[in-house]
Amino acid sequence: MNLDRAFEEEVHNNIARQQQDEAIQRKSIDWMLAVSRLRYAYNFRWLGRPIIQVPQDMVAMQELIWQVRPDLIVETGIAHGGSLILSASMLALLDYCDAAKEGKSLEPRATRRRVLGIDIDIRKHNRTAIAAHPLSHCIDMIEGSSIEPSVVARVHEASKGYECILVILDSNHTHEHVIAELEAYAPLVSPGSYCIVFDTLIEDMPDDLFADRPWRKGDNPKTAVWEYLRRLKQEGRMAADGMPLTLAPDRSIEHKLLITVAPDGYLRRGDSATSLSKSIGSQA
Ligand SMILES: C[S@@+](CC[C@H](N)C(=O)[O-])C[C@H]1O[C@@H](n2cnc3c(N)ncnc32)[C@H](O)[C@@H]1O
Repeated sequence: MNLDRAFEEEVHNNIARQQQDEAIQRKSIDWMLAVSRLRYAYNFRWLGRPIIQVPQDMVAMQELIWQVRPDLIVETGIAHGGSLILSASMLALLDYCDAAKEGKSLEPRATRRRVLGIDIDIRKHNRTAIAAHPLSHCIDMIEGSSIEPSVVARVHEASKGYECILVILDSNHTHEHVIAELEAYAPLVSPGSYCIVFDTLIEDMPDDLFADRPWRKGDNPKTAVWEYLRRLKQEGRMAADGMPLTLAPDRSIEHKLLITVAPDGYLRRGDSATSLSKSIGSQA
């Protein structure tokens, strides 16, 4: 067996063991609870800007962006801009690697791929810092509520012409808001790409952790994901490309990470062949 293949199989088996190990899963949740009380997710920066994520999810984002190769990332919730810069840096690297593979040089600022961020309140100092960042040329921002119809329409308009879109939802974490974001933006996700819904972990945490927030157990991104998946299955939704939309949690990611704020939140759209055969199957 080829050595790369053997290593892949070993990792696959490791992850399968983690999936079956309830004790390590319990310890991971307990650890997340303990560090959430310390606001651990606020401790990190991506290329200089504060990012409100845990490092494991940042690594998962790197793996996914490299694997999916989106040319547009749409993300709600900008805050200090760290997650926008993470997306922009990965997209710029994809452009750089494409050019390197073709033996071409890539002029600085001549990158093609883009990230579009939406936030209800882009604070002046954050906007200034993002605009001053060397990767700002890959970034567009819209200020407004992500579920406001005029904002949704602007995002859909801006998404036209891209071949592969990945969506990240990380703004207001109430059930009602996230379900509206899923209705608005999940249809933009391209076949084989992902809609990543952050902070689904709220469902697994005690309510006192969010006493000063409008979200809690029973009212959070995970309950919104469950409801949206139910709607997809029972009512059906069309994607923006005119194909039936199929999404399912890619649990291999949470089994690999163990530490994540997005259990059930890495939603993968079936590739076009899967979508087509499912839609033909559902008509039969
Ligand atoms: C958790 S932070 C985003 C963190 C960021 N994605 C990161 O990883 O660094 C949530 C952000 O959502 C924004 N937000 C809250 N309600 C919103 C809404 N209705 N529409 C868009 N953004 C909203 C807040 O202003 C805040 O900046």
